[in-house]
Amino acid sequence: MAFEKVLTRNVGNPAVLSLAGYEGVGGYVALRKALKEMTPLEVTEEVKKSGLRGRGGAGFPTGVKWGFVPRGGERPVYLINNADESEPGTFKDRLLMAHDPHLVLEGTMISAYALECHHAFIYIRGEYVREYEILMAALTELRGKGYLGRGILGSDYDLQVTIVRGAGAYICGEETALMNSLEGRRGEPRLKPPFPAQRGIFGSPTNINNTETLANIPFIIERGAAWFTGIGKERNAGPKLYCVSGHVRNPGVFELPMTITCNELIQEHAGGMLHSGHPVKAFIPGGSSVPVLRADELDVVMSYDDLAEAGTMLGSAGGIVMDETTCMVDALRNLEAFYDHESCGQCTPCRQGCGWLHSLLTRLENGGGVEADIPLITELADNIQGHTICPLGDAAAMPARAMVAKFEDEFRAHVTRKGCPLRDKVMA
Ligand SMILES: Cc1cc2nc3c(=O)[nH]c(=O)nc-3n(C[C@H](O)[C@H](O)[C@H](O)COP(=O)(O)O)c2cc1C
Repeated sequence: MAFEKVLTRNVGNPAVLSLAGYEGVGGYVALRKALKEMTPLEVTEEVKKSGLRGRGGAGFPTGVKWGFVPRGGERPVYLINNADESEPGTFKDRLLMAHDPHLVLEGTMISAYALECHHAFIYIRGEYVREYEILMAALTELRGKGYLGRGILGSDYDLQVTIVRGAGAYICGEETALMNSLEGRRGEPRLKPPFPAQRGIFGSPTNINNTETLANIPFIIERGAAWFTGIGKERNAGPKLYCVSGHVRNPGVFELPMTITCNELIQEHAGGMLHSGHPVKAFIPGGSSVPVLRADELDVVMSYDDLAEAGTMLGSAGGIVMDETTCMVDALRNLEAFYDHESCGQCTPCRQGCGWLHSLLTRLENGGGVEADIPLITELADNIQGHTICPLGDAAAMPARAMVAKFEDEFRAHVTRKGCPLRDKVMA
């Protein structure tokens, strides 16, 4: 059966930016169904059955996560749609918000209903100004037409949705730093436990899901879990948005089942390599935080499980393609500059380690490296990973370890040749 695009079906159709336009293509049918025909528990069960896994990075099953949230307690339950999207190489949530804001809102509203939550938040990356304006316009229209507030769509369910803008910090995509930021505090991760489901924003049970995760919910409710599990692979079901950037002819976001391989994504969907004389050298499949793959490893399927088996991760599905002109030392230096800048500074291994990696790699790239620097990169990564409050440290460590393991000769050549061998080659 041909794969049907659903998440991106309205991309390029500006009519759906209005409520009438979105309803004209079947919008809010799933919300009406959930409110009229299903209890919150039934919605949760359907999502559980679908096997939907979180699209924000970790791939945790969404329905199971919703099951952790205690309902009917003294404190209100909150839902946060995580639209911070700051992972380098990742721009899929942005597409959804810019082209189908009502889908994002409908997914948020149905999920809030399932969680018995009466106030949901969308935390949007500060730099997404246009997306914020589009989303805000859609939300304002909903508020004016009885889709939000008391007794929405004639039901006895009350819901408010508030959009909160970030201030440009990568760390605020991490769920606990996000919660601090949303409360008006400094965006620093919190120790777990307590987990957000137990004690999140304002001391209340809180569920946090990625924007793409929640955009799947209307389809699961309207079409049923069996439709969803029929797409992709077992444990890796449903449509998936893949981002591709770097040395390709046709960078962009591609909606595909999780049966696609890295090679197919790059060569068929992203148009192949930018310069035909420069083949692919390396591919980061899941946003900058995941281990790199070499050109000879790209027949792997881009599912959560297949990529994990290959020693990397699907992460945020932000695919970064590098051709043979790319220096791996310089690429890693660039990534570590990012983590060094974005480390919130709470944990010493991350604060000091990211800076150390960044300066070491800068020295190595510029010809001042020594043999001992190469094992030191791995040692530093070992001392960061698993030793911090949040996984930003792991995100900085994993790519470093993988780059050295997979391109060790290139790292050594920087020492023996006292500089970047590729720079000479590209200049020649
Ligand atoms: C440093 C860091 C940044 C993150 N940034 C994002 C982000 O921008 N968007 C997102 O959805 N998840 C991000 N996450 C993952 C969230 O903490 C969380 O796992 C996710 O929002 C849960 O949603 P999901 O279950 O739907 O995937 C980040 C994690 C870390 C450690």
